Amino acid sequence: MLRPSPDRAADDDPQRHRCGGCDLEHVTAAGQRRLKTRVVREQLERLGGLAAPPVDVCREVGPATGYRNRARFHVDDDGRLGFFLPGSHEVVPATTCRALAPGVQEVVEAIGTTSAAEVTVRAHGQHRAVVLAPGPGGLELPEGPFDLLLEQPDGSVVAMRGDGVLAEEVAGLRYRFDATSFFQNNTAGAEALVHHVLEAVGSPKTGGVDGALVWDLYAGVGLLSLPLARAGAEVVAVEGHEPAAAWASRNATDAGLDLEVAAEAVHRFLRAARRGEGPMDPPDVVVLDPPRTGAGQDVVDDLVALAPATIVYVACDPAALARDAKALVAGGYRLTAARPLDLFPLTHHVETVVTFAR
Ligand SMILES: C[S@@+](CC[C@H](N)C(=O)[O-])C[C@H]1O[C@@H](n2cnc3c(N)ncnc32)[C@H](O)[C@@H]1O
Repeated sequence: MLRPSPDRAADDDPQRHRCGGCDLEHVTAAGQRRLKTRVVREQLERLGGLAAPPVDVCREVGPATGYRNRARFHVDDDGRLGFFLPGSHEVVPATTCRALAPGVQEVVEAIGTTSAAEVTVRAHGQHRAVVLAPGPGGLELPEGPFDLLLEQPDGSVVAMRGDGVLAEEVAGLRYRFDATSFFQNNTAGAEALVHHVLEAVGSPKTGGVDGALVWDLYAGVGLLSLPLARAGAEVVAVEGHEPAAAWASRNATDAGLDLEVAAEAVHRFLRAARRGEGPMDPPDVVVLDPPRTGAGQDVVDDLVALAPATIVYVACDPAALARDAKALVAGGYRLTAARPLDLFPLTHHVETVVTFAR
């Protein structure tokens, strides 16, 4: 290094950021958000073909360290949990990771060493779940603060502290879910996401949330569906992982909210809707929060054919977002706002809430 960038973190220790996960750990928090703003804008311009897309400055959503409530670890030859070095299969011990939530750190320390090949740890409030995939020599059950061991059909074992169910509270709503269902990795970030999605759905352009018919596609355990229902929308949640769909339904019932849940793949649901099957009216607003690969051309084609007035797209990958944005714009939509949120500080990852109007 000849001359440090003004964006280099003052406490940067070149010895520390060795693993491939926190690839922006050497950058100041404000510098990380500037970079992420630029990445979202550039992807929308280059891959999305949009001229001067209206991208907000990436927002801070919570603590910059200790936020990560879920992590997947590799295991080194001595059985210790860690992460791969960049571009290598060498394992760096997890104990130095600043992104991990204290609950995850605590479980990593309690496990010490393991015979598992791979370990996923989740910490939500006081609840803990550890998913252990067997190594070549099988699996010795873990020591540690667990009340319950659940063997899975694929040979892995889920070790839990608590009653076998994970739980989080976000924006005054309680979500319960099992260890196989998705929940946002950053709980403070989940709250910000809910806030910004509600704002996008209820913008003056759409005439507000109350009374709107909203389809929440890729709904998970209902993180966005429940607040939308609470705000007065009539919500249909579509989720392909059956346990998550069942939890979405139960979470709504427990909160005293009406929620229709379709436990099926989004493209099947949309195809059926396009054919006019089922009792459904066309939606006013579609919220979609697809996995990293994006929604894809088929789903976008179906959305364009169904023609909701507003589409609120929650994206965890700016490149996949840009490809889908290009297809939506070709189908007659206009990108009216893009709001990057810093849900994954220390890493290059960024979540973006994007609004499209027909
Ligand atoms: C990024 S998560 C979003 C979940 C939820 N919106 C949230 O914020 O918690 C994506 C969800 O889509 C589900 N999923 C992935 N592919 C799907 C598909 N083709 N059809 C339906 N659901 C799918 C996953 O099981 C996961 O729950």
